[in-house]
Amino acid sequence: MGIIEKAGGELHELATIRQIKEKKSKDEKRQAKKSARVKTFDLNFSALEKAGLYHPSGSSTQLALELRAVKRRLLRRIGFLRAAGERQAFCAPGRQRNLILVTSTCAGEGKSFNAANLALSLALEDQIETLLVDADILRPKVRSLLGLPKGPGLTDKFMDMTVKTKSLMRRANQAPLTVIGEGAAVDRVPELFASDASQHFWAELSSAASDRLIIIDAPPVLAATEAVILAKYVDEVVFVVGANSTPESAVASAMDELLDINPNVSLLLNRCIIGSGGSHYRSYEYYGREVRNEEMGGAIHAQT
Ligand SMILES: Nc1ncnc2c1ncn2[C@@H]1O[C@H](COP(=O)(O)OP(=O)(O)O)[C@@H](O)[C@H]1O
Ligand SMILES: [Mg+2]
Repeated sequence: MGIIEKAGGELHELATIRQIKEKKSKDEKRQAKKSARVKTFDLNFSALEKAGLYHPSGSSTQLALELRAVKRRLLRRIGFLRAAGERQAFCAPGRQRNLILVTSTCAGEGKSFNAANLALSLALEDQIETLLVDADILRPKVRSLLGLPKGPGLTDKFMDMTVKTKSLMRRANQAPLTVIGEGAAVDRVPELFASDASQHFWAELSSAASDRLIIIDAPPVLAATEAVILAKYVDEVVFVVGANSTPESAVASAMDELLDINPNVSLLLNRCIIGSGGSHYRSYEYYGREVRNEEMGGAIHAQT
C-alpha cells in the first residue's frame, strides 16, 4: 500500500472514531438530560377530598377558608407578599426566607396533615411554586397522603451528596407542587440531619429558587432531635398544637427548645372535631393573638 493510500485509510479511521465519539457524547448528554428531568405524578383530587385534604373543588369549604387565613399570615411573616426588591431587603444576607418547618410536641398532632394542606393549597390555589419535603424519617406520611410510591428521598441525599436532588423530586402534573419523600430507612438519623451534607442541602434548596416555598414536614420536637436541628437551618417554624390534646406544659418545653434556636416560631392550632357526621377538619389559627373558644368544639378565633 502506497503512503498516500495509507494516509487516506488512517484519515478515514480517524473520522470514524470521531463520529463514534460524537455519537457517544450525544447519547450521554441525552441520557444525562433524561435523568435530570424531574419525574411527574398525578394528584388524585378525589383521594385528597376523601382524606380531608385541600382539593380544588373545595375552594369555598371551611378548610379552604381557614387555610387562606393561615397562608396569608405565613406569607406576610416571611415577606412573601412584598415586591421582589423590597423582599430581598427584608431577608437576612444570603437568606431567601423560604424554608418553613412544620413541627409539634409529639406524634399525631397534625404536622403532616397541615404541611400537606399548606403545600397543596399554596400550589393549587395561589399557583405558588412549592416544594414539600418529608423529613420525618421514622414516621413518613407525605407519600401516602399524596399517593406517591416509595422511592429515593432525603436520607439517600444525606448519605451520598453526589445523588442529584432532581432525581429525588416528583412534580405534580396539575400544579407547581414538587415533593421529596423521606428516602431509605437509616440508622443514626439525628447525626445525618446534623451533618454538613444536610446543612448544605437545605441552603442549596433555599437558594435554588427564591420564589419557591419549601415546606418541611418534620418529626416532633419532644420525640426526636431532628426538628431542633432543622430549626437552625430554616427561616420560619410553624408549630402545630392539637387544640384539645397538646398539654400546655409540653408546648412550653418544646417552645423553650425551639426559641433558643430560632425565634421565628408561629403556633398553628389544629383541631379535630368528631361530630355525628364523622370527623371534620376544623380550625387552625395563628399564635400571638387572643384565642376565644366559642363553643365546645367550635372554631377558634383570633383577635386581629
Ligand atoms: N384537622 C384535622 N382534621 C381531620 N383529621 C386530622 C386533622 N389533623 C390531623 N388529622 C388526622 O390525624 C391523624 C394524625 O395526623 P398527622 O398529620 O399524621 O400527625 P403528625 O404528622 O403530627 O404525626 C391523621 O390521620 C390525620 O389525617
Ligand atoms: Mg407526620
